[in-house]
Amino acid sequence: MIQSNNETESPLAAGATSPEDLIVEQSLRPQTLADYIGQQAVKNNLHIVIQAAKQRNEVLEHLLFYGPPGLGKTTLAFIIAKEMGSNIKVTSGPAIERAGDLASLLTNLNEGDVLFIDEIHRLNKAVEEVLYPAMEDHVLDIVLGKGPGARSIRMELPKFTLIGATTRIGLISGPLRDRFGGTYRLEYYPEADLQKIIARNGRILETLIDDSAAAELSRRSRFTPRIANRLLKRVRDFAQVHGHDTIVLNIAKQALSLLEIDSMGLDKNDRRILETLITKFSGGPVGLNTLAAATGEEEDTITDIHEPFLIRLGFLAKTPKGRVATETAYKHLGLTSPAANAQKTLL
Ligand SMILES: Nc1ncnc2c1ncn2[C@@H]1O[C@H](COP(=O)(O)OP(=O)(O)OP(=O)(O)O)[C@@H](O)[C@H]1O
Ligand SMILES: [Mg+2]
Repeated sequence: MIQSNNETESPLAAGATSPEDLIVEQSLRPQTLADYIGQQAVKNNLHIVIQAAKQRNEVLEHLLFYGPPGLGKTTLAFIIAKEMGSNIKVTSGPAIERAGDLASLLTNLNEGDVLFIDEIHRLNKAVEEVLYPAMEDHVLDIVLGKGPGARSIRMELPKFTLIGATTRIGLISGPLRDRFGGTYRLEYYPEADLQKIIARNGRILETLIDDSAAAELSRRSRFTPRIANRLLKRVRDFAQVHGHDTIVLNIAKQALSLLEIDSMGLDKNDRRILETLITKFSGGPVGLNTLAAATGEEEDTITDIHEPFLIRLGFLAKTPKGRVATETAYKHLGLTSPAANAQKTLL
Protein backbone atom coordinates (compact mmCIF):
# COMPACT_ATOMS: atom_id res chain seq x y z
CA MET A 1 0.00 0.00 0.00
CA ILE A 2 2.84 2.32 0.69
CA GLN A 3 3.82 4.06 -2.48
CA SER A 4 7.45 4.91 -2.48
CA ASN A 5 8.27 8.14 -4.13
CA ASN A 6 11.38 10.16 -4.32
CA GLU A 7 10.86 12.92 -1.81
CA THR A 8 13.48 15.24 -3.18
CA GLU A 9 12.16 14.95 -6.70
CA SER A 10 8.52 15.85 -6.28
CA PRO A 11 7.91 16.73 -2.68
CA LEU A 12 4.22 17.56 -2.73
CA ALA A 13 2.70 16.45 -5.98
CA ALA A 14 3.95 12.87 -5.93
CA GLY A 15 2.34 10.05 -3.92
CA ALA A 16 2.75 9.52 -0.20
CA THR A 17 6.13 10.93 0.80
CA SER A 18 6.85 10.37 4.45
CA PRO A 19 5.46 8.02 7.09
CA GLU A 20 4.15 11.11 8.83
CA ASP A 21 2.25 12.11 5.69
CA LEU A 22 0.71 8.66 5.59
CA ILE A 23 -0.49 8.91 9.18
CA VAL A 24 -2.05 12.31 8.52
CA GLU A 25 -3.59 10.98 5.33
CA GLN A 26 -5.21 8.14 7.21
CA SER A 27 -6.46 10.30 10.04
CA LEU A 28 -8.12 12.63 7.54
CA ARG A 29 -9.68 9.88 5.45
CA PRO A 30 -13.48 10.18 5.48
CA GLN A 31 -15.21 7.07 6.86
CA THR A 32 -18.68 7.32 5.32
CA LEU A 33 -20.14 8.22 1.96
CA ALA A 34 -21.76 11.25 3.59
CA ASP A 35 -18.34 12.52 4.73
CA TYR A 36 -16.82 11.98 1.30
CA ILE A 37 -16.93 15.42 -0.29
CA GLY A 38 -17.66 16.02 -4.00
CA GLN A 39 -17.70 13.40 -6.80
CA GLN A 40 -21.47 13.62 -6.58
CA ALA A 41 -22.24 11.53 -9.67
CA VAL A 42 -20.07 8.66 -8.44
CA LYS A 43 -21.54 8.90 -4.95
CA ASN A 44 -25.12 8.87 -6.24
CA ASN A 45 -24.44 5.72 -8.23
CA LEU A 46 -22.65 4.01 -5.38
CA HIS A 47 -25.43 4.86 -2.99
CA ILE A 48 -27.90 3.06 -5.26
CA VAL A 49 -25.81 -0.07 -5.85
CA ILE A 50 -24.97 -0.37 -2.16
CA GLN A 51 -28.58 0.07 -1.02
CA ALA A 52 -29.87 -2.32 -3.70
CA ALA A 53 -27.36 -5.03 -2.77
CA LYS A 54 -28.19 -4.62 0.92
CA GLN A 55 -31.95 -4.80 0.33
CA ARG A 56 -31.56 -7.97 -1.71
CA ASN A 57 -29.12 -9.34 0.79
CA GLU A 58 -26.64 -9.88 -2.01
CA VAL A 59 -22.93 -9.42 -2.32
CA LEU A 60 -22.03 -6.12 -3.99
CA GLU A 61 -20.93 -6.28 -7.64
CA HIS A 62 -17.26 -5.79 -8.60
CA LEU A 63 -16.28 -2.13 -8.95
CA LEU A 64 -13.41 -0.36 -10.67
CA PHE A 65 -12.22 3.18 -9.87
CA TYR A 66 -9.82 5.14 -11.99
CA GLY A 67 -8.35 8.63 -12.10
CA PRO A 68 -5.20 10.57 -11.17
CA PRO A 69 -3.46 9.91 -7.83
CA GLY A 70 -4.88 11.35 -4.61
CA LEU A 71 -8.49 11.81 -5.75
CA GLY A 72 -9.94 9.27 -3.31
CA LYS A 73 -10.02 5.81 -4.91
CA THR A 74 -8.60 3.95 -1.91
CA THR A 75 -10.78 6.04 0.39
CA LEU A 76 -13.90 4.97 -1.52
CA ALA A 77 -12.95 1.30 -1.34
CA PHE A 78 -12.76 1.52 2.46
CA ILE A 79 -16.01 3.48 2.65
CA ILE A 80 -17.83 0.93 0.50
CA ALA A 81 -16.68 -1.97 2.66
CA LYS A 82 -17.83 -0.11 5.74
CA GLU A 83 -21.22 0.79 4.25
CA MET A 84 -21.72 -2.86 3.28
CA GLY A 85 -20.67 -3.97 6.77
CA SER A 86 -17.93 -6.08 5.14
CA ASN A 87 -14.32 -6.83 5.89
CA ILE A 88 -11.77 -5.47 3.46
CA LYS A 89 -8.52 -7.12 2.42
CA VAL A 90 -6.03 -4.85 0.74
CA THR A 91 -3.41 -5.76 -1.81
CA SER A 92 -1.97 -4.39 -5.03
CA GLY A 93 -1.17 -5.53 -8.56
CA PRO A 94 2.60 -5.74 -8.10
CA ALA A 95 2.24 -7.55 -4.75
CA ILE A 96 0.46 -10.52 -6.38
CA GLU A 97 3.36 -12.06 -8.22
CA ARG A 98 2.15 -15.58 -8.95
CA ALA A 99 -1.20 -17.24 -9.61
CA GLY A 100 -0.72 -19.09 -6.31
CA ASP A 101 -0.53 -15.78 -4.39
CA LEU A 102 -3.93 -14.80 -5.71
CA ALA A 103 -5.34 -18.29 -5.06
CA SER A 104 -4.36 -18.08 -1.42
CA LEU A 105 -5.84 -14.59 -1.10
CA LEU A 106 -9.11 -15.74 -2.64
CA THR A 107 -9.45 -18.93 -0.61
CA ASN A 108 -9.00 -16.94 2.58
CA LEU A 109 -11.93 -14.63 1.87
CA ASN A 110 -15.27 -14.92 3.63
CA GLU A 111 -18.65 -14.47 1.98
CA GLY A 112 -19.29 -10.76 1.32
CA ASP A 113 -15.68 -9.65 1.87
CA VAL A 114 -14.19 -6.86 -0.21
CA LEU A 115 -10.88 -7.58 -1.92
CA PHE A 116 -9.23 -4.29 -2.84
CA ILE A 117 -6.54 -4.48 -5.52
CA ASP A 118 -4.71 -1.19 -5.92
CA GLU A 119 -2.74 -0.55 -9.12
CA ILE A 120 -4.74 -3.32 -10.73
CA HIS A 121 -3.26 -2.46 -14.14
CA ARG A 122 -0.04 -4.08 -12.92
CA LEU A 123 -1.42 -7.63 -12.53
CA ASN A 124 0.41 -10.09 -14.71
CA LYS A 125 -1.31 -12.28 -17.27
CA ALA A 126 -1.10 -15.54 -15.30
CA VAL A 127 -2.68 -13.87 -12.27
CA GLU A 128 -5.38 -12.21 -14.36
CA GLU A 129 -6.39 -15.57 -15.74
CA VAL A 130 -7.04 -16.90 -12.26
CA LEU A 131 -9.03 -13.79 -11.50
CA TYR A 132 -11.48 -14.09 -14.43
CA PRO A 133 -13.39 -17.23 -13.31
CA ALA A 134 -13.13 -16.06 -9.70
CA MET A 135 -14.86 -12.78 -10.56
CA GLU A 136 -17.39 -14.31 -12.91
CA ASP A 137 -18.42 -17.60 -11.34
CA HIS A 138 -16.73 -17.50 -7.92
CA VAL A 139 -14.60 -20.49 -8.74
CA LEU A 140 -10.93 -21.21 -8.69
CA ASP A 141 -9.38 -23.47 -11.30
CA ILE A 142 -6.29 -25.14 -9.96
CA VAL A 143 -3.99 -27.08 -12.25
CA LEU A 144 -2.34 -30.05 -10.58
CA GLY A 145 0.83 -31.48 -12.04
CA LYS A 146 2.54 -30.62 -15.29
CA GLY A 147 2.60 -31.82 -18.88
CA PRO A 148 0.23 -34.45 -20.29
CA GLY A 149 -0.66 -35.79 -16.82
CA ALA A 150 -1.78 -32.39 -15.57
CA ARG A 151 -5.38 -32.09 -14.48
CA SER A 152 -7.46 -29.23 -13.34
CA ILE A 153 -9.74 -29.12 -10.35
CA ARG A 154 -12.38 -26.52 -9.71
CA MET A 155 -12.95 -25.07 -6.26
CA GLU A 156 -15.93 -23.01 -5.15
CA LEU A 157 -15.04 -19.66 -3.66
CA PRO A 158 -17.11 -17.55 -1.29
CA LYS A 159 -18.96 -14.73 -3.04
CA PHE A 160 -16.84 -11.62 -2.71
CA THR A 161 -16.58 -8.09 -4.13
CA LEU A 162 -13.48 -7.09 -6.01
CA ILE A 163 -12.71 -3.39 -5.95
CA GLY A 164 -9.94 -2.36 -8.33
CA ALA A 165 -8.20 1.00 -8.50
CA THR A 166 -5.92 2.38 -11.16
CA THR A 167 -4.43 5.60 -12.41
CA ARG A 168 -4.11 3.99 -15.86
CA ILE A 169 -7.39 2.69 -17.18
CA GLY A 170 -5.83 2.36 -20.64
CA LEU A 171 -3.50 -0.37 -19.41
CA ILE A 172 -6.29 -2.63 -18.15
CA SER A 173 -7.03 -5.52 -20.46
CA GLY A 174 -10.46 -5.67 -22.09
CA PRO A 175 -11.45 -9.01 -20.50
CA LEU A 176 -10.63 -7.73 -17.00
CA ARG A 177 -12.46 -4.46 -17.52
CA ASP A 178 -15.54 -6.28 -18.79
CA ARG A 179 -15.83 -8.27 -15.58
CA PHE A 180 -16.53 -5.23 -13.41
CA GLY A 181 -20.19 -4.42 -12.78
CA GLY A 182 -19.41 -0.72 -12.54
CA THR A 183 -16.49 1.43 -13.66
CA TYR A 184 -16.21 4.90 -12.20
CA ARG A 185 -13.95 7.72 -13.17
CA LEU A 186 -12.96 10.14 -10.41
CA GLU A 187 -12.69 13.72 -11.55
CA TYR A 188 -10.42 16.50 -10.37
CA TYR A 189 -12.12 18.48 -7.58
CA PRO A 190 -13.46 21.99 -8.04
CA GLU A 191 -12.07 24.60 -5.65
CA ALA A 192 -15.31 24.80 -3.69
CA ASP A 193 -15.08 21.10 -2.77
CA LEU A 194 -11.41 21.40 -1.82
CA GLN A 195 -12.26 24.33 0.38
CA LYS A 196 -14.84 22.20 2.21
CA ILE A 197 -12.26 19.43 2.63
CA ILE A 198 -9.71 21.90 4.03
CA ALA A 199 -12.25 23.39 6.43
CA ARG A 200 -13.30 19.92 7.64
CA ASN A 201 -9.71 18.79 8.10
CA GLY A 202 -8.77 22.02 9.84
CA ARG A 203 -11.41 21.10 12.43
CA ILE A 204 -10.07 17.53 12.74
CA LEU A 205 -6.50 18.81 13.19
CA GLU A 206 -7.79 21.47 15.60
CA THR A 207 -6.30 24.20 13.45
CA LEU A 208 -7.97 27.53 12.92
CA ILE A 209 -7.91 28.59 9.29
CA ASP A 210 -9.86 31.53 7.93
CA ASP A 211 -11.92 31.39 4.72
CA SER A 212 -9.56 33.38 2.56
CA ALA A 213 -6.57 31.22 3.57
CA ALA A 214 -8.61 28.04 2.94
CA ALA A 215 -9.58 29.42 -0.48
CA GLU A 216 -5.94 30.13 -1.30
CA LEU A 217 -4.90 26.60 -0.35
CA SER A 218 -7.70 25.10 -2.40
CA ARG A 219 -6.63 27.15 -5.45
CA ARG A 220 -3.14 25.75 -5.20
CA SER A 221 -4.00 22.12 -4.47
CA ARG A 222 -3.82 20.72 -8.02
CA PHE A 223 -7.56 19.96 -7.77
CA THR A 224 -6.53 17.06 -5.49
CA PRO A 225 -7.61 16.34 -1.89
CA ARG A 226 -4.34 14.60 -1.00
CA ILE A 227 -2.41 17.74 -1.95
CA ALA A 228 -4.91 19.97 -0.12
CA ASN A 229 -4.28 17.93 3.03
CA ARG A 230 -0.52 18.13 2.66
CA LEU A 231 -0.58 21.87 2.08
CA LEU A 232 -2.83 22.33 5.10
CA LYS A 233 -0.40 20.38 7.22
CA ARG A 234 2.67 22.26 5.99
CA VAL A 235 0.98 25.63 6.40
CA ARG A 236 -0.18 24.66 9.89
CA ASP A 237 3.44 23.84 10.85
CA PHE A 238 4.57 27.18 9.43
CA ALA A 239 1.91 29.13 11.35
CA GLN A 240 2.76 27.34 14.59
CA VAL A 241 6.50 27.95 14.28
CA HIS A 242 5.83 31.61 13.60
CA GLY A 243 3.56 31.89 16.62
CA HIS A 244 0.21 32.38 14.86
CA ASP A 245 -2.80 30.58 16.24
CA THR A 246 -4.92 31.17 13.15
CA ILE A 247 -3.91 30.57 9.56
CA VAL A 248 -4.73 33.81 7.76
CA LEU A 249 -4.21 34.59 4.09
CA ASN A 250 -0.82 36.21 4.48
CA ILE A 251 0.56 33.30 6.49
CA ALA A 252 -0.77 30.81 3.93
CA LYS A 253 0.89 32.77 1.13
CA GLN A 254 4.24 32.94 2.90
CA ALA A 255 4.20 29.20 3.65
CA LEU A 256 3.26 28.35 0.07
CA SER A 257 6.04 30.48 -1.32
CA LEU A 258 8.50 28.72 0.98
CA LEU A 259 7.24 25.44 -0.51
CA GLU A 260 7.76 26.89 -4.00
CA ILE A 261 4.12 26.34 -4.90
CA ASP A 262 3.13 29.11 -7.27
CA SER A 263 -0.17 31.01 -7.65
CA MET A 264 -1.71 28.28 -9.84
CA GLY A 265 -0.42 25.40 -7.69
CA LEU A 266 2.52 24.42 -9.89
CA ASP A 267 5.47 23.01 -8.01
CA LYS A 268 9.03 23.36 -9.21
CA ASN A 269 8.90 20.13 -11.17
CA ASP A 270 5.80 21.20 -13.11
CA ARG A 271 7.57 24.44 -13.97
CA ARG A 272 10.74 22.61 -14.93
CA ILE A 273 8.82 20.37 -17.33
CA LEU A 274 7.16 23.37 -18.97
CA GLU A 275 10.39 25.37 -19.08
CA THR A 276 12.28 22.46 -20.64
CA LEU A 277 9.56 22.04 -23.24
CA ILE A 278 9.72 25.73 -24.06
CA THR A 279 13.44 26.47 -23.92
CA LYS A 280 14.92 23.20 -25.19
CA PHE A 281 12.24 22.19 -27.67
CA SER A 282 10.78 25.56 -28.75
CA GLY A 283 7.49 24.68 -27.06
CA GLY A 284 7.19 21.26 -28.74
CA PRO A 285 5.84 19.02 -30.06
CA VAL A 286 8.09 16.62 -28.21
CA GLY A 287 7.69 12.92 -27.41
CA LEU A 288 7.27 11.65 -23.85
CA ASN A 289 10.57 9.76 -23.70
CA THR A 290 12.53 12.78 -24.96
CA LEU A 291 10.84 15.04 -22.42
CA ALA A 292 11.50 12.54 -19.63
CA ALA A 293 15.18 12.27 -20.56
CA ALA A 294 15.58 16.05 -20.79
CA THR A 295 13.94 16.71 -17.42
CA GLY A 296 15.35 13.67 -15.59
CA GLU A 297 11.81 12.63 -14.62
CA GLU A 298 10.37 9.13 -14.89
CA GLU A 299 7.95 8.78 -17.79
CA ASP A 300 5.28 7.45 -15.40
CA THR A 301 5.68 10.46 -13.12
CA ILE A 302 5.12 12.77 -16.05
CA THR A 303 2.08 10.91 -17.38
CA ASP A 304 0.45 10.19 -13.99
CA ILE A 305 1.18 13.31 -11.99
CA HIS A 306 2.34 16.31 -13.99
CA GLU A 307 0.71 15.94 -17.34
CA PRO A 308 -2.95 15.50 -16.33
CA PHE A 309 -2.66 18.56 -14.09
CA LEU A 310 -0.92 20.74 -16.69
CA ILE A 311 -3.45 19.67 -19.32
CA ARG A 312 -6.29 20.46 -16.97
CA LEU A 313 -4.83 23.96 -16.45
CA GLY A 314 -4.56 24.39 -20.22
CA PHE A 315 -0.75 24.75 -20.04
CA LEU A 316 0.05 21.62 -21.98
CA ALA A 317 -1.61 19.96 -24.94
CA LYS A 318 -1.16 16.46 -26.28
CA THR A 319 -1.01 16.24 -30.06
CA PRO A 320 -0.35 13.20 -32.27
CA LYS A 321 3.23 14.48 -32.67
CA GLY A 322 3.86 14.98 -28.95
CA ARG A 323 3.42 17.41 -26.09
CA VAL A 324 3.20 21.15 -26.73
CA ALA A 325 3.28 24.13 -24.39
CA THR A 326 0.31 26.45 -24.86
CA GLU A 327 0.25 30.23 -25.08
CA THR A 328 -1.07 30.35 -21.47
CA ALA A 329 1.94 28.39 -20.27
CA TYR A 330 4.31 30.95 -21.79
CA LYS A 331 2.33 33.73 -20.13
CA HIS A 332 2.30 32.02 -16.76
CA LEU A 333 6.07 31.58 -16.83
CA GLY A 334 6.58 35.16 -18.01
CA LEU A 335 8.02 34.04 -21.35
CA THR A 336 7.19 35.28 -24.83
CA SER A 337 5.89 32.64 -27.22
CA PRO A 338 6.99 32.51 -30.87
CA ALA A 339 3.40 33.39 -31.86
CA ALA A 340 3.37 36.47 -29.61
CA ASN A 341 6.79 37.45 -30.95
CA ALA A 342 5.63 37.20 -34.55
CA GLN A 343 2.64 39.37 -33.75
CA LYS A 344 4.90 41.97 -32.12
CA THR A 345 7.09 42.24 -35.21
CA LEU A 346 3.99 42.62 -37.38
CA LEU A 347 2.77 45.61 -35.36
N1 LIG B 1 -13.84 13.07 -1.45
C1 LIG B 1 -12.98 13.29 -0.46
N2 LIG B 1 -13.37 13.99 0.63
C2 LIG B 1 -12.48 14.23 1.61
N3 LIG B 1 -11.19 13.81 1.62
C3 LIG B 1 -10.78 13.10 0.57
C4 LIG B 1 -11.64 12.80 -0.51
N4 LIG B 1 -10.96 12.09 -1.42
C5 LIG B 1 -9.72 11.95 -0.94
N5 LIG B 1 -9.60 12.56 0.26
C6 LIG B 1 -8.38 12.66 1.05
O1 LIG B 1 -7.26 12.50 0.18
C7 LIG B 1 -6.43 11.46 0.66
C8 LIG B 1 -5.96 10.66 -0.54
O2 LIG B 1 -7.01 9.88 -1.07
P1 LIG B 1 -6.78 8.36 -1.57
O3 LIG B 1 -5.63 7.76 -0.87
O4 LIG B 1 -8.09 7.67 -1.43
O5 LIG B 1 -6.43 8.62 -3.09
P2 LIG B 1 -6.21 7.57 -4.26
O6 LIG B 1 -7.10 7.98 -5.38
O7 LIG B 1 -6.35 6.19 -3.73
O8 LIG B 1 -4.69 7.86 -4.69
P3 LIG B 1 -3.61 6.88 -5.37
O9 LIG B 1 -3.96 6.79 -6.83
O10 LIG B 1 -2.29 7.59 -5.17
O11 LIG B 1 -3.67 5.56 -4.67
C9 LIG B 1 -7.27 10.66 1.65
O12 LIG B 1 -6.50 10.21 2.72
C10 LIG B 1 -8.31 11.63 2.14
O13 LIG B 1 -7.87 12.27 3.32
MG1 LIG C 1 -4.90 4.72 -3.46
